[in-house]
Amino acid sequence: MAVTNSERRVLSGMRPTGKLHLGHYHGVLKNWVELQHQYECYFFVADWHALTTHYEDPQIIEHNVWDMVIDWLAAGISSSSATLFIQSRVPEHAELHVLLSMITPLSWLERVPSYKDQQEKLKEKDLATIGFLGYPLLQSADILAYSAGNVPVGADQVAHVEITRDIARRFNHLYGRDSGFKELAEAAIKKMGKKASRSYIRLKNQFQEQGDLESLERARALVNQQQNISIDERERLIGYIEGGGKVILPEPKALLTPEPKMPGIDGQKMSKSYGNTIALRESPDEINQKIRTMPTDPARVRLVDPGDPEKCPVWPLHQVYSDDTTKQWVQEGCTSAGIGCLECKKVVIDAVIEELKPMRIRAQEYLDSPNVVRGIIAEGCERAREQARETLEDVREAMCLDYR
Ligand code: TRP
Ligand code: SF4
Repeated sequence: MAVTNSERRVLSGMRPTGKLHLGHYHGVLKNWVELQHQYECYFFVADWHALTTHYEDPQIIEHNVWDMVIDWLAAGISSSSATLFIQSRVPEHAELHVLLSMITPLSWLERVPSYKDQQEKLKEKDLATIGFLGYPLLQSADILAYSAGNVPVGADQVAHVEITRDIARRFNHLYGRDSGFKELAEAAIKKMGKKASRSYIRLKNQFQEQGDLESLERARALVNQQQNISIDERERLIGYIEGGGKVILPEPKALLTPEPKMPGIDGQKMSKSYGNTIALRESPDEINQKIRTMPTDPARVRLVDPGDPEKCPVWPLHQVYSDDTTKQWVQEGCTSAGIGCLECKKVVIDAVIEELKPMRIRAQEYLDSPNVVRGIIAEGCERAREQARETLEDVREAMCLDYR
């Protein structure tokens, strides 16, 4: 059995849905850049996940895949620190998805909030597919294939990491039991006394047979209330409900990505669906144009009319880019009509151009040598695949599929 230090490992993926923008940079990418120096990082393009919603127009995915990898590299993700790869190039993810699907109760997938939410939101698409229902399970396979202990995700993805934990626990329970464990656990059950034992067995069965998570919580609480069992026995009893014994697939935890403070050019959160983004590879001219034409406090019709930064979408950009002195200059200049809006915007324009300049240069270098990018990905896929293969060997063995 392969031993990996799952605590040291980070895995995250992104769907190739288009050019990345400043919102991605200030949210996810800066975080990844930091993590790559602290952990053994695997970052991948989730092209199969993109297919779950774009199966009718798959031709857009390919282009987005390469654009996204270039944006990652431009933003400072380094192929010597992190392993970068493409999901569909590591077929082990699909194999693990199938094997895990055998033990995943339908109800667990049906109650993941994003399932119904996205179906509601993307009404124009038919998302009543197995692929879409299985989205969180595929994500679980992504994570578990690498025994990744840490998964940086936004708040909207935490439920997917939670279901991954539940699936890993169920897998370990079904296939990871050591010999002797069962007997010791059964002896500990008896020690709890008649009434508690009966409740424990009932709750354990409800969890194991129906995947009922509330029963799991209640059984854990019951064990923790017991006075006349040792710490060892307590742990064994908890392990016995959860699938104690050998841990074949370690349970990951979510590393919550801080919400990006990055506002779009209309003051709302920057997002492709609002059409208010500044792309990482936007040219200085385009940046200038986009910010110059941003609306400001409507009270400032003429230069002599004072305004209020709180009522202006440019102000949140100063919060991201300007130091205290500049912010004070804005406050005073705006409320006293001492500065013009263009003057005020110029500071932000310069800061954004300055921030993106090195990224544009790097992106251009990669665009000019596509073979370098392909090489980085080829190597990453190979490395990723080796890891995933090891996990799959353990999984096949655990599920008695190692006859050949
Ligand atoms: N579902 C994630 C998103 O939309 C992308 C993703 C796929 C992912 N597989 C993953 C993230 C595994 C973390 C780990 O953002
Ligand atoms: Fe907005 Fe600056 Fe104009 Fe005030 S001076 S309204 S903060 S752009």
